[in-house]
Amino acid sequence: MNRKWWHDKVAYQIYPKSFYDSNGDGIGDIPGIISKLDYLQDLGIDIIWLSPCYRSPLADEGYDISDYYNIDPRFGTMEDMECLIAEAKKRGMYILMDLVVNHCSDEHEWFRKACQDPDGKYGNFFYLRDKTQGRLPTNWRSYFGGPVWEDLPGTDKQYLHVFHKKQPDLNWENPQVREEVYKNINWWLDKGLGGFRIDAIINIKKALPMHDYAPDREDGLCSMDAMLREAHGIGEFLGEMRDRTFRKYDAFSVGEVFNEKPEEIADFIGENGYFSTMFDFNETVFGASEKGWYDAKPITPDDYKKCCFQSQARVGNTGFLSNIIENHDEPRGVSRYIPQEDCSLESKKMLAALNFMLRGLPFIYQGQELGMENAPFSSIDEIDDISTLHEYQTALQAGLTPKEALRAVLRYSRDNARTPMQWTNQKNAGFTTGTPWLKVNPNYTRINAADQLEDPDSVRSFYKRLIALRRHPDYKETIVYGALEPVWEDRHNLMAYYRKGDKTLLVIGNYQRTEQSVILPQAYKKVLLNNYPDISCEGSTVCLHGYQLLILEL
Ligand code: GLC
Ligand code: CA
Repeated sequence: MNRKWWHDKVAYQIYPKSFYDSNGDGIGDIPGIISKLDYLQDLGIDIIWLSPCYRSPLADEGYDISDYYNIDPRFGTMEDMECLIAEAKKRGMYILMDLVVNHCSDEHEWFRKACQDPDGKYGNFFYLRDKTQGRLPTNWRSYFGGPVWEDLPGTDKQYLHVFHKKQPDLNWENPQVREEVYKNINWWLDKGLGGFRIDAIINIKKALPMHDYAPDREDGLCSMDAMLREAHGIGEFLGEMRDRTFRKYDAFSVGEVFNEKPEEIADFIGENGYFSTMFDFNETVFGASEKGWYDAKPITPDDYKKCCFQSQARVGNTGFLSNIIENHDEPRGVSRYIPQEDCSLESKKMLAALNFMLRGLPFIYQGQELGMENAPFSSIDEIDDISTLHEYQTALQAGLTPKEALRAVLRYSRDNARTPMQWTNQKNAGFTTGTPWLKVNPNYTRINAADQLEDPDSVRSFYKRLIALRRHPDYKETIVYGALEPVWEDRHNLMAYYRKGDKTLLVIGNYQRTEQSVILPQAYKKVLLNNYPDISCEGSTVCLHGYQLLILEL
């Protein structure tokens, strides 16, 4: 495998709206990010991915862009953005922006022009169909609920939106659209960006001609998956994009890729892949139901282990996955992957290490390094996220009471991860001096960065040690490039694996509150990391405490 500049990096995702508010309007902003760069550098972060901060009506919190060449005034100015790139560079860090080009906003100039002249140049930037009474062009259900078709204002046509109706899909079959996208990517790369995280990219290829699929709910609509299974040829677009943009800059790109077929992995992230890497979502999609969130099956420790190992085996050394515990679309990982009554310092650290030591690129989502937990929302009125609101309606329609529906959607709500970052134990967790745009998790008095920075036993201090280990000259080669081999795979509530390179490391997590023992295959030379002060051994038998995590050098 050819070595790439980003292979040994550690990445961090910032959700700008909730990171740090510098001017008291309750909304996080770019100057706020700049003021926290030292915090990130201290943690050991190299790459920072910013969720979108382009000009946007924020219908989907910035994933609906109305101007790809400007920063939304709520987040700051272009000068702020340039300053952020420069300040990051001074610290040896790279900034990634979010590339949202499956769709734009219905407030984008292109869409306005399409409404004015649907048969003209910009009409062909979108998927438009003639409106027929009593029938939609297709029966696809949008990811955020309801049909994917909406009337094109002022015309007798309808447009396609696979996400929200304020996110019209761009027509990638049109070379003029692709040119606009490449021009924009290069424009940003010329500003000195390290690269992009690429949003919802699997959706850019539609199975044409469009047609209906078998309905999978009583609404008569079908999940987008049905269409995506039939959509072939996305590689032509992605390869062209790579050649015309990223490759020329040796830029980093990480794809939000779902539904890839096993034989496509090398095309996506192999030596000459479309992207540098892509996220592993195997754990996050586990238990999902076609019916909606209310019907999803919770994940157990054994499922979690299986999901991780499956992904590792699938990719092998074809390329690099990007491993996550959570992101802005998911609940907090510690609330999801650890039984609630067991959510403790030890279990949080165990989860952190089990994920972080997998082969691939670790991504940390803001607040994850503090062990931030799901938010105790008490009413649907406290929810901002359009996806949660839709899932709530779905649950009600399925017959759940409002109380049950709320409980069901709160387990998966994207707003769990979007509550403001908890900086201090002061008012509003030190996030803003104004009124935060989304409720602050009241546990900030207990969980916050300021306290954790002082505390050598904090979750953050543990993350810092994990990152330092990955960078350690003696272990870096093994942790970055070494093979991953599962150990004791069938043991209940135990997740363990080797990382084998020029060294042999054994990562062991006792994924339960009660003790359990393992017999080491050989004596260890050194304990590289332990979330307890002690290790209890008798000969080659190690008796693991509840949620004990060990990284041993053999
Ligand atoms: C991606 C983003 C998500 C957004 C969607 C539509 O999945 O991560 O936040 O809602 O795409 O852009
Ligand atoms: Ca602000």
